Amino acid sequence: MRVHSNIVIVGLGWLIGAAVVLAGPGPASAAANEPGVPEQRSGLLLLLAVALAVQAIVIGVLIAKTRRMRRAELAARAHLTEIAQMNRLAAAGELSASISHEIKQPLAAIAANANAAMRWLSRATPDMGEARAALERIVGEAHRASDVIGGIRAMFKKDSEEKALLDVNNVVRKVFDLLRSELQKNEVVVEYELSPELPRVVGDQVQLQQVILNLVMNAIDAMSLVTDRPRSLRVSSARHDPAGLILTLEDSGTGIDPEHIDRIFEPFFTTKSHGMGLGLSICRSIVEAHRGQLMASLACPHGTAFQVILPADG
Ligand SMILES: Nc1ncnc2c1ncn2[C@@H]1O[C@H](COP(=O)(O)OP(=O)(O)OP(=O)(O)O)[C@@H](O)[C@H]1O
Ligand SMILES: [Mg+2]
Repeated sequence: MRVHSNIVIVGLGWLIGAAVVLAGPGPASAAANEPGVPEQRSGLLLLLAVALAVQAIVIGVLIAKTRRMRRAELAARAHLTEIAQMNRLAAAGELSASISHEIKQPLAAIAANANAAMRWLSRATPDMGEARAALERIVGEAHRASDVIGGIRAMFKKDSEEKALLDVNNVVRKVFDLLRSELQKNEVVVEYELSPELPRVVGDQVQLQQVILNLVMNAIDAMSLVTDRPRSLRVSSARHDPAGLILTLEDSGTGIDPEHIDRIFEPFFTTKSHGMGLGLSICRSIVEAHRGQLMASLACPHGTAFQVILPADG
């Protein structure tokens, strides 16, 4: 659309230029005034100069317009990335606030009953009956706390779930499109190996975008300190037996300390000063809610590979 309008504007520029040249002194006026050859040539040169000036102005306007559009596009992308991150932070903040609010009461009751049990037991003649009752109340409060967490998780899932038949390659493309300026800014080169023969999956597009976005943001973070080799991110998708697909994101970042590899999916585990340690745990619960698996392994010779396995429709 934009290319068409640009062609039309350049064409108009040429037409105006040509019209100015053609509207110059014609044969009639030439006959009337009978100017000499040098005057005719200088008149033509002047008209040509005017035509070129018109052309230059049109091209200048076009370049300025293209630059303005490019700037607006980059700003829009940066804004979208910011929104995606803010949404996640806001959701995580809200979730942790509601968890801590709901959990405070049973935790306080557990602490009070544990103190009471210790007092009953430390008497000269321990009161086993009271101690037992306090311990039973502790068990009850612990179940309540776990129900609260279960309820919040269920509510969280139900609210955001919107299943549709999806082409995972398209989901990948959308996220990388969204993150294009972020990847460019961090000098990350993306290599795609997306299989055209993927089965479709039933899933929530926004949630799966969130998974890929988190994995890519982690990869960018992991490569931010790499200066002695290319920062490359290989994204591949393929059929996966028995019936499903596997999506792999392999970066050339600093890799994961083998001691940490079992902990990275735990909520609040982070090695970053600005991290919340929630990205991967959110990713894993989303993938598992889609009946899939999310795994990490050390890539060779550097970096980390994350694999998302999803079952096909039905
Ligand atoms: N691609 C990767 N390369 C190296 N380490 C990684 C990679 N992805 C995750 N990690 C490690 O796993 C940890 C947990 O990742 P996770 O995404 O859950 O949290 P985070 O990135 O620290 O914070 P946030 O909540 O903002 O995402 C990271 O702090 C990092 O140590
Ligand atoms: Mg993260």
